[in-house]
Amino acid sequence: MSERWTPDSWRNKPVLQVPEYPNPKALADVEAQLATFPPLVFAGEARNLKKSLARVANGEAFLLQGGDCAESFAEHGANNIRDFFRVLLQMAVVLTYAGALPVVKVGRIAGQFAKPRSSPMEKIDGVELPSYRGDIVNDIAFTKEARTPDPQRQLMAYRQSAATLNLLRAFATGGFANLGSVHQWMLGFIKDSTQSRRYKELADRISEALDFMRACGLNLESHPELRATDLYTSHEALLLGYEQAFTRVDSTTGDWYATSGHMIWIGDRTRQLDHGHVEYFRGIKNPIGLKCGPSLKPDELLQLIDVLNPQNEPGRLTLINRFGSDKVGDHLPQLVRAVKREGRSVVWSCDPMHGNTITSTSGYKTRPFDRIVSEVKSFFEVHAAEGTHAGGVHLEMTGQNVTECIGGARAITDEDLNDRYHTVCDPRLNAEQSIDMAFLIAELLKQERAGKVKPIPAVAGF
Ligand code: PEP
Ligand code: CO
Repeated sequence: MSERWTPDSWRNKPVLQVPEYPNPKALADVEAQLATFPPLVFAGEARNLKKSLARVANGEAFLLQGGDCAESFAEHGANNIRDFFRVLLQMAVVLTYAGALPVVKVGRIAGQFAKPRSSPMEKIDGVELPSYRGDIVNDIAFTKEARTPDPQRQLMAYRQSAATLNLLRAFATGGFANLGSVHQWMLGFIKDSTQSRRYKELADRISEALDFMRACGLNLESHPELRATDLYTSHEALLLGYEQAFTRVDSTTGDWYATSGHMIWIGDRTRQLDHGHVEYFRGIKNPIGLKCGPSLKPDELLQLIDVLNPQNEPGRLTLINRFGSDKVGDHLPQLVRAVKREGRSVVWSCDPMHGNTITSTSGYKTRPFDRIVSEVKSFFEVHAAEGTHAGGVHLEMTGQNVTECIGGARAITDEDLNDRYHTVCDPRLNAEQSIDMAFLIAELLKQERAGKVKPIPAVAGF
């Protein structure tokens, strides 16, 4: 691992989850073209995110990361982006106010296209075709043409990411995110839902506090923190050829940065120590994530930390845990202990989605809300027991009123899944389920601060 790093040194290592492009020359041409395109994000922004994540690592802030499992070309539109942004803002307000901690907001957006698959091929009615690997690689339709990887799709993904990011930047700084508009964000709620009542109560209190400060003579307009917000982008950097094309030297520091998103992460299937993904990630200076699933052993994790964060820089590395509600208690404590024992600074974040996927009786891939909640609670409980900070959550969620995860306050049932099951990949929390989750996490954060996370009540059925 001590060999010289270059943006393409990953090509000398084994790489998993690589699509089979029929024409390598066409792929190389696209990658060469991408390398001439403007960066999507700047190194300075990535450094600011790293600083914010350092506060999370030190227990002074909370990371809220979420978005689609996979963005799609077909669903790209202003309303979808606005609705996602709004629900993430609402969640952040709930967490900041009720949880009383600054919240670092990171979207799985503007680049979250490429998907790892458990099998390279999919078989339907005796016909076998390459698996769908995300819109940046191939199309979801089950035909030979659609499923053949097409490098031109990388150009489309880049352009979609740029357009998405442009709108997000406008929402974040152009007035929409002004805390004084906390009531206007309500518009997305279904009337008279529990969530809308709880949220309105909280928004009333925030407005009162702002009025109070104004009455005391504070000029709120002069506080940019109240007028605008920071929203960062992130994705799984699975397609290393695409990532390499956007790996640029920062002129102020001379360091290499991934400029395809502020934060990128390594998936649970591609985190082998001697493989290409870890090689690529060790050379860039962005804040990075590492998915940690049940097969990860404490020693292996420490070796990965040595390679990925050799300077022990706070905010550099976020460990995104995704064990499953029934496994988190067996796996997380030993990892937390090992990292703590070795004095390594990391952000601990809980992905309660990927370990809790089941196939419903009706055949849909779904996730029971109760299990998602149960994994988050266990995550907080483990950190309370180990004396570490439950630093964040990583959610698959949307601002739309979809029916993909069963349960929640509006009790989506197996029969409801068919109504609005829109995801092209994994099932997401809908807007109401996401807000519910935020209130729950706010409660857990309050307990963490008071030093009294309660034992997890047993959840029936698992
Ligand atoms: C994902 O985040 O969509 C994903 C594929 O996760 P994991 O690598 O944890 O399986
Ligand atoms: Co997913």
